[in-house]
Amino acid sequence: MGYKDKIDLLKLPKHIAIIMDGNGRWAKDKGKLRIFGHHNGVLSVRDVVEGAAELGVGYLTLYTFSSENWNRPKLEVMAIMELMVSTIHKEIDRLMKNNVCLKAIGDLDMLPGKCHDELMSAINKTAANTGLVLTLALSYSSRREILQAVKQIAGKVQNGELKIDDIDEEIFENNLYTTGMPNPELLIRTSGEYRISNYLLWQIAYAELYFTPKLWPDFRKEDLYAAILDYQKRERRFGMTSEQVN
Ligand code: IPE
Ligand code: IPE
Ligand code: MG
Repeated sequence: MGYKDKIDLLKLPKHIAIIMDGNGRWAKDKGKLRIFGHHNGVLSVRDVVEGAAELGVGYLTLYTFSSENWNRPKLEVMAIMELMVSTIHKEIDRLMKNNVCLKAIGDLDMLPGKCHDELMSAINKTAANTGLVLTLALSYSSRREILQAVKQIAGKVQNGELKIDDIDEEIFENNLYTTGMPNPELLIRTSGEYRISNYLLWQIAYAELYFTPKLWPDFRKEDLYAAILDYQKRERRFGMTSEQVN
């Protein structure tokens, strides 16, 4: 019996977020250029998206490119952007077939024109799909997201639309890029690094964290299932006692 059959479908995390890390090291281990790792990482994305869609997971959010990643060597950044364009183009039929609704969060205006256009076209094409909501975090920084929420809210206070005393968690969340999505209940990071790297800082306040030494290009849907099973064994107490939640 595989991991998949052991998963309790009634207790699926509503939202899974993944920090897809380790592409460069995977390639280096094989004596190849880093971009070879990124290319192979796409195969993992395809498999994991399919796995999540098959299970009936509601939301999957993938850390694809951080704001900090713009500081990488120009050649690598360009290669990643090219890869993004060709991948989105190639995957669109599969996304439609799997009823996946594509979204993106981050500072998307920073993306090269072609990449931005390809992304927007795929987002529009899949907008009416009712299955898995697949969100790519692109040119994404959680601190910037929080800052822009603060500015947006301050603007509403300034023009009288909102009173300071009315600002609560719900209003704050409505001003984040992730508005309308449930907060991630499971956060996975590959490649054996134990950090958050400026990802969804507000949203993961009570997420269960799962770290695996596997490098992203080696990660497959079976690994996703293993992470979900691990999640399902945990007791989520939200500050209460074990007796209270049982
Ligand atoms: C993750 O893999 C992909 C991106 C950040 C774009 P890395 O490229 O960070 O791979 P490592 O961590 O250097 O091995
Ligand atoms: C985080 O990985 C960003 C993505 C996975 C897209 P990094 O490899 O950029 O993070 P650090 O530098 O190890 O923290
Ligand atoms: Mg990395």
